[in-house]
Amino acid sequence: MPTDRLSAALASGAALLPPEGVILLLNPVDPGALAALPRDRLRAVQPVRPDHDALAAAGFAVTPLVPDDRFTGAVVFLPRSRAAARMAVARAVRLAAGGPVVVDGQKTDGIDAMLRDLRTRGRVGEVLSKAHGKTFTLAPDPGADWTAWEAAGQPVAVGDGLLTAAGAFSADGPDPASVALASALPARLSGRVADLGAGWGYLSRAILTRPEVTELHLVEADHAVLDLARLGLAHDPRARFHWADATRFADAQGFDAVVTNPPFHRGRTTDPDLGRAFIRAAARLLRPSGALFLVANRHLPYEAALAEAFAEVADLDPGHRGPFKLIRASRPRPPARR
Ligand SMILES: C[S@@+](CC[C@H](N)C(=O)[O-])C[C@H]1O[C@@H](n2cnc3c(N)ncnc32)[C@H](O)[C@@H]1O
Repeated sequence: MPTDRLSAALASGAALLPPEGVILLLNPVDPGALAALPRDRLRAVQPVRPDHDALAAAGFAVTPLVPDDRFTGAVVFLPRSRAAARMAVARAVRLAAGGPVVVDGQKTDGIDAMLRDLRTRGRVGEVLSKAHGKTFTLAPDPGADWTAWEAAGQPVAVGDGLLTAAGAFSADGPDPASVALASALPARLSGRVADLGAGWGYLSRAILTRPEVTELHLVEADHAVLDLARLGLAHDPRARFHWADATRFADAQGFDAVVTNPPFHRGRTTDPDLGRAFIRAAARLLRPSGALFLVANRHLPYEAALAEAFAEVADLDPGHRGPFKLIRASRPRPPARR
């Protein structure tokens, strides 16, 4: 029995894919989990830059945007957000145009509720349960209406011209940590500024209220989320948008300030290494006179990484009144000294 669930489902018949034509893959993350699929007939959609690049490096045809083509079948890897999952399945049904749609997901990502919902919208074949998740194939009911499901992931306004959407970080409105950092930022920010992990642009908007900021570079790994920021902030010619992994982002001129509410999860797992990598990236990207402004939950252990990367680290909330650390770090150490 193959060890990964999709391969096992293909072997058992729970995943049924068409014998010919191009197959759409929505949201695949692990190239290893695609081993049993016909590689030359796959078209993967992965908007998150590090995952996209890993798939491309493993030889898969991958794009960040859902193509408007027709496919003979599709495989959907369930995202965490229920609305984003519904949008993905509805898109797969539309683009596979009557062909089978294989759905694979973890229990923690709602695969059981999705299975129940899909049983009312088509014929579901054998269900393979394995490794805390399920894989099955949907033959969509030709009469089912998917309009509301596909609309579930559409952008929604959150005020000040900004937009968010299901699946984005803090999809319901501003994150409290970002709100705390926005109000702790100095009134006078100037020159070239970067927002690492910019999301849909909440902190970026606060930065752009400073008239002396000449350029603001939004660096965001998720293409779909960066597009939301683009819609919300493109009217400001100082905003530049980069679909990039912030930990590898390069910039020749250097920044006067870096602002970040760094991610600290990979999937559902807390991973402070990601935040530490953002701190190192900020030190590398700053000019010698520049400063990093960072917010983090109090429990996250960033002190050593900050002290290694910066000669000066100040607490912007010395009374520790709030649930977040608000940090200003300056005098980035040269790479050899970090
Ligand atoms: C904690 S959220 C902050 C979002 C936004 N700045 C805000 O304050 O609402 C972190 C953001 O970093 C993005 N992200 C995760 N890993 C990344 C990476 N390697 N490079 C760039 N962005 C990343 C996530 O998609 C998410 O939008």
